[in-house]
Amino acid sequence: MIIAVDGPAASGKGTLAGGLAGYYRLPHLDTGLLYRAVGRAVEAHEGQADFEARAIEAARDLHPDDLDPEFLVAQKIGNLASKVAVIGEVRKALFQYQRNFALRHGGAVLDGRDIGTVICPEADVKLFIIADAHARAERRARQFAARGQAVDFETLYTQIEERDARDRANPNGGFYPAADAHLLDTTQLDIEAALRAAVAIVDAVI
Ligand code: C5P
Repeated sequence: MIIAVDGPAASGKGTLAGGLAGYYRLPHLDTGLLYRAVGRAVEAHEGQADFEARAIEAARDLHPDDLDPEFLVAQKIGNLASKVAVIGEVRKALFQYQRNFALRHGGAVLDGRDIGTVICPEADVKLFIIADAHARAERRARQFAARGQAVDFETLYTQIEERDARDRANPNGGFYPAADAHLLDTTQLDIEAALRAAVAIVDAVI
């Protein structure tokens, strides 16, 4: 069984995908980590002429050891990730990694932006998570606060909106709900309620 979980930044899709993976005993891949790892690898080249070429190279050379979330959570890395994510050759280089993950294990939960549209259009269940931008910024702020990192709410909110706009406008992105995706609005839901709602959708389909 392949479950695709797509949605915008800080929509709760990662937590939800992790919860579904635990519930159905499937491996989980947070595909945002791939883009974040590429973004981190080219951080020093931002704004330079070789940024794109370096990003393509980093995507082609990506190694599973590069995907440690601990080094990739920063807001800055998320923003860089969305900049490398518009490069078609980067997406192409990361495609096979994601496909292999989905197929190798005979089932998986993948979360990202284009899982239901590009990576696994044949997924058994597709969830598209939405949540109000304000609620998403609040969640992200709480996550950073829990790690003892001070963040300015307004800055966070603006960055989330900028990243959404870049992701939606990405001509190579595939970031829209697939025709057969189930929309789940988590604005008013806590983690447990969101997971219950997602399990209900999956159980009704499989
Ligand atoms: O999900 P996360 O916030 O970690 O993703 C970071 C960035 O990586 C996104 O803003 C998006 O630009 C890009 N991304 C993507 N396709 C995916 C996953 C992430 O373009 N499947």
